[in-house]
Amino acid sequence: MEKILVPVDGSEQSHKAVGFAVDLANHYHATIYLLHVFKLTIVPEGLGEYVVSDRVQLRALGDKIIAAAEDEAKGHGVERIETAVVEGDPAERIIDYAKEHDVDIIVIGSRGLGTFKGLLLGSVSNKVTHRADRTCVIVR
Ligand SMILES: Nc1ncnc2c1ncn2[C@@H]1O[C@H](COP(=O)(O)OP(=O)(O)OP(=O)(O)O)[C@@H](O)[C@H]1O
Ligand SMILES: [Mg+2]
Repeated sequence: MEKILVPVDGSEQSHKAVGFAVDLANHYHATIYLLHVFKLTIVPEGLGEYVVSDRVQLRALGDKIIAAAEDEAKGHGVERIETAVVEGDPAERIIDYAKEHDVDIIVIGSRGLGTFKGLLLGSVSNKVTHRADRTCVIVR
């Protein structure tokens, strides 16, 4: 166990996932990879499509989310931490990142910032755990 990927969205569950990954990293002397994916929201309006969220703001928010997670991990003694903020479909980018960096495990929250709380799994954790070709841990 050398590389642990933790996708973070700033939610309570992703915070818990970081905590779980910290314990694993300390046990195995592994590197934690913190990844945030932001996505522009586009609404169809009349004939055109308008981008309603701002790329610069979303990246800045992502940087803050990552910084908070990094502080948390560092504060609990993790020495090796890599961070990334990327744009795109969250699940797709998480799966790609896991492959590109050849991580050993993905530690992901069961739910995130979504407001519909009826399901046990959010769409991102659902897609990642079904499609990623490596070990996944869902943190509840
Ligand atoms: N944009 C993102 N970047 C990185 N990780 C994410 C992102 N969105 C979700 N995650 C990860 O996936 C976990 C589950 O979040 P998910 O988005 O699937 O649930 P949800 O927000 O409750 O539902 P939905 O987004 O389908 O409404 C989070 O705890 C986090 O670990
Ligand atoms: Mg979500």
